[in-house]
Amino acid sequence: MNVYVAGTGMTKFGKHAENSMELSVEAAAKAMEDAGIAPEEIEELYVGNFAQNLFEGQAHLGPALYGSLGLKNNIKATHVESACASGSFALHEAFRAIKGGFAKTVMVVGVEKMTAKTTPEITGILATAGDAFYEAPCGITFPGYYALMASYYLKNIGGTKDDLAEIAIKNHYHASKNPYAQFQREITKEMYYGSPIIAEPLCLYDCSPISDGAAAMILTSEKKDVELASCEAAVSRMALAERGEDISWLEGVEIAGKRAYNVAGVAPEDIDVAEVHDCFTIAEVQNIEALGFYKHGEGIKAAKEKETYFDGKKPVNTDGGLKAKGHPVGATGVSMAIEVVKQLHNEAHNQVKGAEVGLISNVGGSGPSCVVGILRRS
Ligand SMILES: CC(C)(COP(=O)(O)OP(=O)(O)OC[C@H]1O[C@@H](n2cnc3c(N)ncnc32)[C@H](O)[C@@H]1OP(=O)(O)O)[C@@H](O)C(=O)NCCC(=O)NCCS
Repeated sequence: MNVYVAGTGMTKFGKHAENSMELSVEAAAKAMEDAGIAPEEIEELYVGNFAQNLFEGQAHLGPALYGSLGLKNNIKATHVESACASGSFALHEAFRAIKGGFAKTVMVVGVEKMTAKTTPEITGILATAGDAFYEAPCGITFPGYYALMASYYLKNIGGTKDDLAEIAIKNHYHASKNPYAQFQREITKEMYYGSPIIAEPLCLYDCSPISDGAAAMILTSEKKDVELASCEAAVSRMALAERGEDISWLEGVEIAGKRAYNVAGVAPEDIDVAEVHDCFTIAEVQNIEALGFYKHGEGIKAAKEKETYFDGKKPVNTDGGLKAKGHPVGATGVSMAIEVVKQLHNEAHNQVKGAEVGLISNVGGSGPSCVVGILRRS
């Protein structure tokens, strides 16, 4: 059974007064309208969310959203959690439900409402996606994990901090054209170097922000003009110390990517546009190398050489990425897929000319949970 995209919808990412249910309903209602389907036609619901129990006191989002959305028939409605990859793991479950012939029409919603807490509280909640028994007691947080990987990369693999600055500048430039982005403003190198250090060598403009938002997608077995050709997952060891000497290499992305290419029957060079997990600027480099777009040590120059701009030879994060579009954790994976769908519909704000095949790569934690999906015009 082939899997197609029937409709999409999302909220703007940023700081919202609405709670997670209100954001989810907005995104889901837009997706149903876009697909032209009624609530009773949805046969399964997967809600990707990391930690609404800790952010808002609401766990168990599947049934909560089933009721809020007015879905019918006591369908399967469940909450999918895999840290920052929760949204794409929800997409993966929906893909499998249709591929396996269990359902014809499935809704995926990704959501996170983060901003009601303070930055230290949020940092602590996010840190629960790391290793709580050995790493967290050392005081490490997510900026810290990626700072360690960035330090290793810059010292042993190649590149400079200036190359990281170019990635932030590129993604802010893309976001400046995207009305759904949290930061619709460009940044300069002076602003980058003038911003505070968050975790050496990463400064404010290397980091994705704290965000609220929701994104929804309806998948169907009925033929539509965009196919979700594959949506594959892989895991790697949770603790950085268990990952071998080169801690900058994302083995889970490499393996999920190979599985996704294999199922879709495409190769890295066939990808016209990619949305990859740039929770910190170094992560964009790690993803585009593990996905086989660039050799290890060469991806760090791609933004500086303008290759990953929307009009470059390998466009990456054309909506601004997590860096500037925002990163409401559970919504991110679904919003990546929405941007690729827009590209394939020729409706993106930074349109890649003639885009036929697109890829998403969404990563949970410091690299252990990975989903790679491939979408193409059908
Ligand atoms: C980087 C970080 C610590 C900044 O938080 P903060 O110091 O509390 O920042 P504030 O919310 O007080 O914002 C201060 C200013 O910086 C801006 N800002 C905040 N985060 C930003 C970011 N990541 N990029 C660009 N600007 C940012 C705000 O808009 C604000 O600007 P203003 O003064 O013009 O309004 C926070 O965004 C963070 O923790 N990011 C990482 C999130 C994360 O780890 N996600 C999981 C990834 S795996």
